[in-house]
Amino acid sequence: MGSGKKPVVVYGASGYTGRIVCEFLRQYRIPFVAAGRNAERIQETMDHLPGVETADYEVVAVDNTVAALKELFTGRKVVCNTVGPFERFGEPVVQAALEAGIHYIDTTGEPAFFELLQQKYSADFAAASLALAPGTAYMYTPVDIATRMLLEEGDLDTFEAVTAGTFVPTFASTQSIYSLFSHDARYLKDNELLAWPPGKGFEVAVPGFAVNQLVHPWAGGNMPLVFRDHPQVHTYRQFSGNTDRELMEGLIALQQQFEADVRSLPKEEQKVAMDKIVDEIEPFMPPREYTLVHKSCDIVTGTGSAGGKKIVIQSTSPYTQSGMFQAATAVKLCADGTQKAGFVTACEAVGHKYLMGQLKSFLPVKITITDL
Ligand SMILES: NC(=O)c1ccc[n+]([C@@H]2O[C@H](COP(=O)([O-])OP(=O)(O)OC[C@H]3O[C@@H](n4cnc5c(N)ncnc54)[C@H](OP(=O)(O)O)[C@@H]3O)[C@@H](O)[C@H]2O)c1
Repeated sequence: MGSGKKPVVVYGASGYTGRIVCEFLRQYRIPFVAAGRNAERIQETMDHLPGVETADYEVVAVDNTVAALKELFTGRKVVCNTVGPFERFGEPVVQAALEAGIHYIDTTGEPAFFELLQQKYSADFAAASLALAPGTAYMYTPVDIATRMLLEEGDLDTFEAVTAGTFVPTFASTQSIYSLFSHDARYLKDNELLAWPPGKGFEVAVPGFAVNQLVHPWAGGNMPLVFRDHPQVHTYRQFSGNTDRELMEGLIALQQQFEADVRSLPKEEQKVAMDKIVDEIEPFMPPREYTLVHKSCDIVTGTGSAGGKKIVIQSTSPYTQSGMFQAATAVKLCADGTQKAGFVTACEAVGHKYLMGQLKSFLPVKITITDL
């Protein structure tokens, strides 16, 4: 074990994604703290971490309060937050990171939380020269990389992004889905955020499949929020899906039911009803991803006045990608600081070429670029 304070804290290390972040931090040979609410559970998780005998880590139990988290974060460099739903548990972690003066990254797929951080905390993180990078994960980082590759063309202004993965949603991911349902999903059209109709799916042709896949706005995604003030972009629509059609049909039916039973209630009662649904979900831990089964395909199209381009990124293991993007971003932030302070995506903090390079280093990746 090394001496001195370990620079990276993985908060939620006992979870499905948190443990993968730890695995990748070991690959980068960077010391880390495996933190969360239950030290015994985290230690048990770490005991089974592949290559644990050469991981430089310590286990720390910490409450989900600003004071406790700040004490843990002080003197370190980055927190990788994987404790969701983020709307429920995320804000104390952000506040503590700011007060302790460390970079904050998380795996949230919840646009409402994303927007809250954008509006409430960006200026303070910028003033402290720190990165605030929520959504550093599978569902957002590959399409962000592809969008930035397309923006380099210089003449593309209208974008559509689709993530179509084969994955088994985890316990906290399932809980997070309800947090998505309780907000309007929005897309950017002519520089204005407009609401999607709720409970509606869209058919998309995904490379690798003969049959169309069913995707969903998934609370709008974070890309319309990231690019709403971008000088080159005026329209951005984002969709996410799972290649398990039954799962997607179930999700859409669930949202329609949620609209009828919960969103029609007064605001206060909505929150109570939603917390009740989320608390009633029994904890579970899906098996570790199979590299040959759990594939991913991310598609981004960009068009302008004179045509456009489409980028398709085919790879594997969505949750593994999330752990890798977290660790890769944390390592680079520790070494070089952030390229841009305040509210950023991982691509803005550490560079999209670097993140694509790291994805290629760890997983098979095929990138196809075609003219439209
Ligand atoms: N955007 C993406 O592509 C993407 C990818 C991966 C994950 N995610 C998101 O990341 C989050 C975590 O996912 P996961 O797969 O790791 O889920 P998970 O396996 O259910 O893990 C959740 C973690 O949160 C901790 N936790 C739960 N309630 C807590 C509380 N009240 N106080 C402190 N810690 C608490 C759990 O600790 P215990 O073990 O003590 O219960 C566990 O460490 C989810 O919101 C998910 O949607 C997003």
